[in-house]
Amino acid sequence: MATMQLLLIICLAAFCNGFTSVRLHRRPPDTDVSVAERRFLQKLDHFNGADTRVWHQRYFVNDTFVQPGGPVFLMIGGEGEANPTWMQYGSWLTYAQKLGAFCLLLEHRFYGESQPTLDMKLENLRFLSSRQALADLAHFQTVLSQDLGLSGRKWVVFGGSYPGSLAAWYRMKYPHLAYAAVASSAPVNAVVNFPEYLEVVQASLARNHSSCPKTMKVAFDSLIQLLAYKENYEKLTEHFRLCVMLEINSIMDNTFFLETIAEFIMDIVQYNNDNREFEGGKGGNVTIEVICDLMAKESLGAPYDRFVAVVQTILEATKQTCISAEYKKFIMDMKDYSWKGIASQGGKQWLYQTCTEFGFFQSTDSLSQPFSGFPLSYYVQQCKDIFGPGFSLSSITDAVQQTNEYYGGLNIQSSRIIFPNGLIDPWHALGINSNISYDVVAIQMQDAAHCADMYPERPEEPLAVPVARRSIFTLLTKWLQS
Ligand SMILES: *[C@@H]1O[C@H](CO)[C@@H](O)[C@H](O)[C@H]1NC(C)=O
Ligand SMILES: *[C@@H]1O[C@H](CO)[C@@H](O)[C@H](O)[C@H]1NC(C)=O
Ligand SMILES: *[C@@H]1O[C@H](CO)[C@@H](O)[C@H](O)[C@H]1NC(C)=O
Ligand SMILES: *[C@@H]1O[C@H](CO)[C@@H](O)[C@H](O)[C@H]1NC(C)=O
Repeated sequence: MATMQLLLIICLAAFCNGFTSVRLHRRPPDTDVSVAERRFLQKLDHFNGADTRVWHQRYFVNDTFVQPGGPVFLMIGGEGEANPTWMQYGSWLTYAQKLGAFCLLLEHRFYGESQPTLDMKLENLRFLSSRQALADLAHFQTVLSQDLGLSGRKWVVFGGSYPGSLAAWYRMKYPHLAYAAVASSAPVNAVVNFPEYLEVVQASLARNHSSCPKTMKVAFDSLIQLLAYKENYEKLTEHFRLCVMLEINSIMDNTFFLETIAEFIMDIVQYNNDNREFEGGKGGNVTIEVICDLMAKESLGAPYDRFVAVVQTILEATKQTCISAEYKKFIMDMKDYSWKGIASQGGKQWLYQTCTEFGFFQSTDSLSQPFSGFPLSYYVQQCKDIFGPGFSLSSITDAVQQTNEYYGGLNIQSSRIIFPNGLIDPWHALGINSNISYDVVAIQMQDAAHCADMYPERPEEPLAVPVARRSIFTLLTKWLQS
């Protein structure tokens, strides 16, 4: 759903997009597309019949392909502003064209222009949860079915990344409404600590140069050593093009800086060679191969110097002028509860969902990965620093357990769900990677990144991606005929 640190946030796309800290997601939209945009009168609290408050939820429509008796395709919005580019491009529209589908995209509550409350104070954020989001979908589908005469049709839900999980969960929790689901790169298993993320990063970095993770580790250890002495701060500020002079006054300052830098590499892996350009994303030409070629280039100097060259290459390709890596500023931005703050682009809301539902903390708590310095405790401290002293490892552990109790984690009991996953994408580690039954199906894409199957087709993509799209289309066609 893209690189995250809210600061780097860059914006985010509709569903599969992201930022960094808790990077799921993909990248932010830059494009300006005119697509029919509408508002739906939605309930604030689906779980309290005494609360009658309502708000306006944004959605988009593409009825170009609709045929009598055809299905309805509902794309589920996620942890960023909904990007209307997906109403004109993307593999789901090619399925829609062939199957005569009516297409809808519902923006997720609390993201983009779908703002249910006056602001994002903690007492309002309690209305932000995946369960409320699923109930939004159910109410939206029920009312729209009546209003537009769509109730006789079969509804198929789509989503990538967190919305991929929502798609699967909607099919599971509302089987009378959702006929089938395509849950791309869906991390359905919530975990507090997610060290496997960086283990997959390591494996993916090794695919072209087996020494790449090792060289990266040597470089990162040098960075940590340099960071130990104040006299190096000026040099580090210059090397990593920091927006303001590096200043370390606490462990969190130190850790935040390290994690911010590591996230540049994590993003390259997660979104390797994807097709982000069509929706306005930048830097698609910097791939695992490009950065590992640089890491192998002895003429650039020591591993640390090569690593600096890698980060600078990424900055240039993504047109970022500087890196904001100050924990104090990050916390200040994150605590801002207005809809106008920089963190309101999704960073604050998504962090809240990780602290209250999913965890997913991409720590360095495994030995089989190239970085060091950001343990689980660092992420727990962020929840506390931003949302208050009520948050702790035990509160987050309880919340994550509740999430898995409610949705079942990896134990999916359902039918007609497709789980595509790219195998170099670190998120596949929390997804469904083997077939559960004849119609709860895992489709693995060798060499592919996060949400690869959702993008428009393109000659440069790994072979497994068009193969996956054909399998998805075949299954949907078969299911819709029965
Ligand atoms: C729906 O998507 C198709 C395929 O990209 C596009 O040609 C058409 O303009 C879109 N229609 C609307 C109403 O956005
Ligand atoms: C990089 O590795 C992938 C996966 O093994 C392979 O498909 C690709 O051709 C390799 N590229 C190069 C330049 O070796
Ligand atoms: C990637 O493309 C940008 C232009 O969009 C260019 O400035 C940059 O040099 C390219 N980087 C690499 C590594 O190819
Ligand atoms: C699951 O079954 C489908 C056929 O329906 C097959 O194409 C796919 O490769 C299987 N997935 C795995 C992970 O074995």
